[in-house]
Amino acid sequence: MSKIDQFMSGRLQERKDKLSIRNLSTNILPVDFCSNDYLGFAKSAELKHLINTALVTMHDYPNGAGGSRLLSGNTKFTEETEQFIADFHLAESGLIFNSGYDANVGLLSSVPQRGDTIISDELIHASIIDGCRLSHATRFKFHHNDINDLEDKLKLAKGNKFVVVESVYSMDGNIAPLISISNLCERYQANLIVDEAHATGIFGTNGRGLINQFGLTDRVFARIVTFGKAIGVHGAIVLGSKNLRHYLINFARSFIYTTAAPIHNAVAVRSAYQYLNKIDHQLIHQKIALFRNTLKEQNINAIDSESTIQGILFSSNEAAKLAAANLQSKGFDVRAILSPTVALGKERLRICLHTFNTDEEIISLVNHLKELN
Ligand SMILES: Cc1ncc(COP(=O)(O)O)c(C=O)c1O
Repeated sequence: MSKIDQFMSGRLQERKDKLSIRNLSTNILPVDFCSNDYLGFAKSAELKHLINTALVTMHDYPNGAGGSRLLSGNTKFTEETEQFIADFHLAESGLIFNSGYDANVGLLSSVPQRGDTIISDELIHASIIDGCRLSHATRFKFHHNDINDLEDKLKLAKGNKFVVVESVYSMDGNIAPLISISNLCERYQANLIVDEAHATGIFGTNGRGLINQFGLTDRVFARIVTFGKAIGVHGAIVLGSKNLRHYLINFARSFIYTTAAPIHNAVAVRSAYQYLNKIDHQLIHQKIALFRNTLKEQNINAIDSESTIQGILFSSNEAAKLAAANLQSKGFDVRAILSPTVALGKERLRICLHTFNTDEEIISLVNHLKELN
């Protein structure tokens, strides 16, 4: 075995020993409590029809973009889609990236400079951490959703200050205290960046997100909205000023040095946003309420969350994996989230609720959770 193979096998063995090894699986279980397809858009026949109809009217569109947005990959349709989405979220402007990962890496690595300070919640998504790592700015973490700790860190910050939070946290499902955070940012002249990946489509009028719901659209420096979760397709947009958009076009390397998504991706995104205006926005909240109320009736402890993301805590990778395997054997697609993805001792079942989960499925899942407790 070569030296590098020995190294890789050693690292993999460490993961196996800690029961945290990851493997790809094509085994799809019948009852989805795992995907981020909260509104069922990814599998919606109605949305598929809308997308196909829109594509038919766009004669001669190429199969691929043939280059980055700065070369052959830009189209009028993509730019109109960006403005359409920005208008929907009440933002001045927007720039589409190939994924939320790319959007966060591009934004965080290009805007904060050496001598500036980025302060992010300790539970912030890996894509934001990676963006910060590529930046030369100083980075502080503050305790999860802890306003006092954020203020302590703001007092230490130098240069241009950036506070980065998620409106709905991807692993805990809880909501950031956005109004207090925004007030603090104003007091300390910090720029607020909010990742709305798991709030988009779920909160705010017709799914405009929590920044919209809390009336903070004029008080954020940038928002990241992703299309791969409730919107059911793929890609992401950074919303902000026209100046920010122009800056990112010039300096965000994950935007510049990559092939643009093909035009049918922009068509899918635009169609999904049009579809957002046609659905019943109460239904997902009824499903969340049913799950939470049934948990309460059964005396099951869960992470406090009003969102589509719910968490039942276990004390080790082994316990979380065992619980997941038990539920999977009954047809529920529920996944264990293991350390190091979450902190040691905070391993959990991450349960995602969807509009297409029937009431019977939700009640039956909780009854099975009760047996595990
Ligand atoms: C909070 C958050 N931001 C960004 C991303 C990345 O988005 P995408 O899947 O489009 O790369 C995710 C997805 O895992 C996420 O949960």
